[in-house]
Amino acid sequence: MIDVTITVNGVALAVSVELHHSLLDLVRSAGYRGTKEGCAEGECGTCTVLLDEDLVCACLVPAAVCDGSQVVTVEGLDVPDLAAAMVGHGAVQCGFCTPGIMVTASALIERCAASGEMPSTTRVREELAGNLCRCTGYVGILGAVAETIRMRLDGRER
Ligand code: FES
Ligand code: FES
Repeated sequence: MIDVTITVNGVALAVSVELHHSLLDLVRSAGYRGTKEGCAEGECGTCTVLLDEDLVCACLVPAAVCDGSQVVTVEGLDVPDLAAAMVGHGAVQCGFCTPGIMVTASALIERCAASGEMPSTTRVREELAGNLCRCTGYVGILGAVAETIRMRLDGRER
């Protein structure tokens, strides 16, 4: 076992992990079950979290290398505007992909808000390309993300 100190959603944790444990195993064991395991091989994006401000597939990151890191899961996001837009656009059906999409989209929204730049539809598609959804056809998801960015840039509330 390896001792790891990690901060998840602002809460410091001290845990012991096996070498084969992933960051996904760690956050779910810590109670952050919003982060889902889909493929477990880096293909679906449903396990996406922020690791020291980088988007990662938590299923691919060994927990043992996360000592001292800061992690944000879907539970740690503060994006009620995006959540409302996702609902409004019918962007959630079974919901399995939703946590990963929320994390990826939140990072994009923050970058766009900081730069003041409205991304093209193509760029929004590209940014979300690592998050697979087998239910919605993506139209609602892309619409929700674009609307959230637009409203943030315009200083409007949903
Ligand atoms: Fe990690 Fe699919 S579960 S990418
Ligand atoms: Fe079912 Fe996306 S809503 S996989």
